[in-house]
Amino acid sequence: MVDPTKGINSENTSCHHRNTFSCLPKESGNTSFWGMSVKKICCIGAGYVGGPTCSVIAYKCPELQVTVVDVNPQRIAQWNSDELPIFEPSLDEVVKSCRGRNLFFSTDVDQAILEAELIFISVNTPTKNYGLGKGRAADLKFVESCARRIAEIAKSSKIVVEKSTVPVKAAESITNILKANVKPGIKYQVLSNPEFLAEGTAIGDLLNPDRVLIGGEQTSEGQEAVSALGWVYQHWVPREKIITMNTWSSELSKLAANAFLAQRISSINAMSAICEVTGADVSEVAHAIGTDSRIGNKFLKASIGFGGSCFQKDVLNLVYLCECLNLPEVAAYWQKVVDINDYQRRRFSNQIIQRLFNTVTSKTIAILGFAFKKDTGDTRESSAIYICQHLLEEGAHINIYDPKVKKEQILKDLSSRPEIFDSPDRLNELVTICPDAYTAAADSHALVICTEWDEFANLDYKKIYSHMLKPAFVFDGRLILDHNSLLDLGFHVEVIGKRLTRDISRVVRTPAAGST
Ligand code: NAI
Repeated sequence: MVDPTKGINSENTSCHHRNTFSCLPKESGNTSFWGMSVKKICCIGAGYVGGPTCSVIAYKCPELQVTVVDVNPQRIAQWNSDELPIFEPSLDEVVKSCRGRNLFFSTDVDQAILEAELIFISVNTPTKNYGLGKGRAADLKFVESCARRIAEIAKSSKIVVEKSTVPVKAAESITNILKANVKPGIKYQVLSNPEFLAEGTAIGDLLNPDRVLIGGEQTSEGQEAVSALGWVYQHWVPREKIITMNTWSSELSKLAANAFLAQRISSINAMSAICEVTGADVSEVAHAIGTDSRIGNKFLKASIGFGGSCFQKDVLNLVYLCECLNLPEVAAYWQKVVDINDYQRRRFSNQIIQRLFNTVTSKTIAILGFAFKKDTGDTRESSAIYICQHLLEEGAHINIYDPKVKKEQILKDLSSRPEIFDSPDRLNELVTICPDAYTAAADSHALVICTEWDEFANLDYKKIYSHMLKPAFVFDGRLILDHNSLLDLGFHVEVIGKRLTRDISRVVRTPAAGST
């Protein structure tokens, strides 16, 4: 049960602590609950979580009918086409193997609710951009509208599973809405079942999860519902990896997991700033601390900061929760994780400007990678957006290449701050979306790695160098390139967390160089 490779911490998530939580008990995993059984599953929300999660459920549970519904008809049409709305390695194969058999994508939300015994809510819970808690609290309006729809439509009892990431006690609100509108003879149980997949490795994470978390009411009906959901996962997940606990612990565990992961990135990025000033090398420091089994070596790569739809949103959500709970010191602690992330992005783009002789106005900068990480086309909260916008503010021309992000998405993301552009045409004048890295780099002053796509490590940098303006600069924001080879080719190279260059431009650095 305890994974010896994971050190002492894994014991805390083991089955030994039955007082507070447990693995799915042996007698559980029953298909039946309240005299019913799970045959049809509905998932509301066909996004990065709902789509892959339910595709894997359908793939692993051929006897269940899984219907994923969404209010966005375009998204559903894409799920039913050859070009899926999201890119994830192996997702195509999984979807194609069961679509039309026991996996369906539909806009008919009501019908899917009516038929299902078990309903996942996987809708978006973005940071609120209005009203109370603006900029920090999670906006639960989509989750709430799902609860109201279920209450209105349902003609039989349902297990409602909160898969979206929500603040602690959200399940209570869903329960209240369902129970306030309940029809005679219908029962509801609301479970928390947060999703821990990471974009880019979603299918592998879903097929072989570290754990599945199910939180439920500590009543016999609640435990029956937990058991029914556990039975679905037990089709492919070993029982000891299915952890059950009370609903609030489960909800908080998701926020806590993302806060801890984000905190590691901000910690190593804070170290990278010290390294650049002192001459230490952040990769060496990361290796040294990562070999300590208490720390472990994952999530210790310095970079231009974390992105994605979750980390910032969930940490801010935690900050807001702490403030509401009158825990200002705890709120301030977690807020710093986000502050350091902003600092790191700004520090990197300032470094580009300073190294390019303190101005990028009218210079051309090639940006390689726009997605928030490799192996996804998702750009939500991508650090590349912030870095490009900062360079555009300074009057730079930027050429952008990303293997998976579409032109329209890049332009939409960059226009999120219209004040940067003094006329609507200015964005198109300053930004060129390129079909490959070589086109992006041609006639540019600098090449900036913003996403760690594997292909960027294997480019012909000799050819790239020959087509760039001199002195030619490379800024490696992801620590993926062979820096010594680049120096040998004649590039001036800047990397996060390490002093490398031995060239002329350091001489012209202003006293403010290296600071932000
Ligand atoms: P998403 O934005 O990709 O997808 C959400 C979908 O829900 C959209 O297609 C939207 O049209 C649909 N929707 C919204 N309201 C609806 C309604 N009332 N009825 C039907 N459909 C509705 O969001 P994503 O990334 O899938 O995230 C969903 C939840 O999962 C969020 O709470 C997120 O924090 C959480 N999560 C996300 C992860 C990720 O890597 N993206 C990982 C783990 C959790």
